[in-house]
Amino acid sequence: DKQLTVPKFTAMKAEGRKITVLTAYDYTMARMVDAAGVDAILVGDTLSMVVQGHGNTLPVSLDEMVYHAEMVGRAVEHALVIVDLPFPSYHLGAHKAIENAGRILKETRCQAVKLEGGVDQAEVISALVGAGIPVMGHVGLRPQNVHTLGGYRVQRDRKQLLADAQAVERAGAFSVVLECVPSDIAAEISKKLRIPTIGIGAGPACDGQVLVLNDMLGMTSGYVPKFVKQYADLKGEVARAVGSYCEEVRSGEFPAPEHGYE
Ligand code: KIV
Ligand code: NA
Repeated sequence: DKQLTVPKFTAMKAEGRKITVLTAYDYTMARMVDAAGVDAILVGDTLSMVVQGHGNTLPVSLDEMVYHAEMVGRAVEHALVIVDLPFPSYHLGAHKAIENAGRILKETRCQAVKLEGGVDQAEVISALVGAGIPVMGHVGLRPQNVHTLGGYRVQRDRKQLLADAQAVERAGAFSVVLECVPSDIAAEISKKLRIPTIGIGAGPACDGQVLVLNDMLGMTSGYVPKFVKQYADLKGEVARAVGSYCEEVRSGEFPAPEHGYE
């Protein structure tokens, strides 16, 4: 079947179908995730941490986001592909935001962008949407604000969260991520909005869920947040496979005759 479109993604809410989203950052993983049937793939700026090894999402550049979006775009046949706008590519005025976000649509096969912000980003969102660039909002915990926030923690200002989510919807976004928001506030927001809410650490009442692929596959070394469920232990699998390989090469067990040519 054909690739999921932005309007069809949004319509899933009214149809009462939960929306599944995962991140992916390269061709190999994006192909597997797409083939497994996820609705949307996010080329998240978390690639700054999980691919590049930085401590937060601030260092990744627009060129690097485009590079990873190209790889994912080439891999995906079914899922909608959304790409994070990196810090500070959408804070330089609407004109520059269109120029920067436009690169995602011009240079990759991806269909939409995501940016962090609510009331404060409404103008930029509406400028992008006006230019034909579909936007997913992102409210609650905004990792690009880490230095202002002084760390990553649950966001509990009900009034502000609701105002942000509604501003994003009014500005024309097709969906909004709610990150690290108490479940009851996320439920209230999800009920009030027409566009789907995609939760991460925001409870079960959201219209969809998103996780960082490396976290849910058990590939992440170091801290994994409480909201992550690990569906696999790929770190353990890799350790086992690499350990066996090294052992067998050292003992002479690999390669066996069947791995060679006459
Ligand atoms: O960058 C990212 O991976 C994200 C998701 C966790 C929502 O923004
Ligand atoms: Na992100």
